[in-house]
This record gives sequence, structure tokens and C-alpha cells, in this order.
Amino acid sequence: MIDAPLRVVPLAGAHDRGAFDSGSEPLDRYFRIQVTQDIRRRVTACFVALTAEEQIAGYYTLASASVQLADLSAAKAKKLPRYPSVPAVRMGRLAVDQVFRGQGLGGALLADALTRAARSEIAAYALLVEAKDRAAECFYCHHGFIALPESPMTLFVPLATIDSTPLV
Ligand SMILES: CC(C)(COP(=O)(O)OP(=O)(O)OC[C@H]1O[C@@H](n2cnc3c(N)ncnc32)[C@H](O)[C@@H]1OP(=O)(O)O)[C@@H](O)C(=O)NCCC(=O)NCCS
Repeated sequence: MIDAPLRVVPLAGAHDRGAFDSGSEPLDRYFRIQVTQDIRRRVTACFVALTAEEQIAGYYTLASASVQLADLSAAKAKKLPRYPSVPAVRMGRLAVDQVFRGQGLGGALLADALTRAARSEIAAYALLVEAKDRAAECFYCHHGFIALPESPMTLFVPLATIDSTPLV
């Protein structure tokens, strides 16, 4: 149960990842075993939602990416410069511990990722996600993500549509 506001902070060595259980084995294994190495190599950044007792309730990862203009709808592509691709931010993984499911945390982490990407000094056209299954695809559509016409499991939100006013 979420009974007090959670904090979203960069993952740090002191955080206990061992008990995290989203019910998705690949997402849990990545978080327990691989993520710190990826952070050290600067191929991903990871943010965690912490309870007042410092329990990890959810996490997401962000990294640089790009979108091919040819993969966007004609309506979206015609509003962009005629480069082969435009910069983007990829939310590679998103998971909420099963204990904290269905209480708005997944949506709050998505909002946090969008705001973080939109307020970055490094420009990016969109936040991109890869839905791992149909349920994840529905979750992202529910939150206003748009599917790429030819790859419906890849979805994005243009960052110009996000209010980038700092959260604090
Ligand atoms: C997907 C996941 C992150 C959602 O987290 P959550 O905290 O349970 O979701 P929330 O409580 O924030 O749900 C927010 C909203 O999304 C909706 N929603 C949640 N799952 C949904 C789904 N599969 N389809 C449509 N809408 C969905 C909720 O109804 C809620 O709507 P509301 O704000 O209008 O009330 C979580 O279930 C999870 O970790 N799943 C396993 C890993 C995974 O699938 N990750 C997705 C990345 S590929």
C-alpha cells in the first residue's frame, strides 16, 4: 500500500534492489544484476520510486535514442526538419513492484520520465518506449502514447507537448 508520497531519485548503491518483485522475471533480473553496470558504462540512467522506509516501489531507465523520420506518420514527419532521424529519449524499462500495483505509481513514473526528458538541456523530439506485450501497449496508449504506424509496439510522446516546469 502507498500510504505516504514516494520520492523519485537516481538509483544509488545504498538502495536495496534484492527484494524488488514486479512479477516480470526479465525486468527484475535486469534491475538486480545488470543495471548498475549499464549506469557505470553510461549506457543507461535509472530512477527509482522510494517509500519513506527507502523501499524501492518502482523503477525506470532512460537513455539517448533516435527516431527515423520515415517511421513517423506523414503528418508528424512533415512538421520536422528533413533529417533522416531526430533525437529521442528511450525509456527502456518501467516496472512497479507487485505490492504497489494499481495505485497510480506506474502513471506517476511515466509522468516523471516525461518531465525529466522534457526539461533536459539536451534536446530530444520524443520519449520512446517499447511495449513488451499487449498489456503494456494498452497502458502506454491509455497515457497518450502514439504507436509508430509500422511498429505498433514502439510508442512515443512528442516532448513539446509536455509541461517541463520543474517538479520542485
Ligand atoms: C505496467 C505497470 C508499470 C503499471 O503500473 P501500475 O502502478 O500498476 O499502474 P497505475 O496504477 O499507475 O495505472 C495508471 C493508469 O493506467 C491504467 N492501466 C494500467 N495498466 C493498464 C493496461 N494494461 N491497459 C490499460 N490501462 C492500464 C490504470 O487503469 C490507470 O488508469 P487511471 O489513471 O485512468 O485510473 C505495472 O503493471 C508493471 O510493472 N507491470 C510489469 C512490467 C511491465 O509490463 N512494464 C511495462 C513496460 S514494457
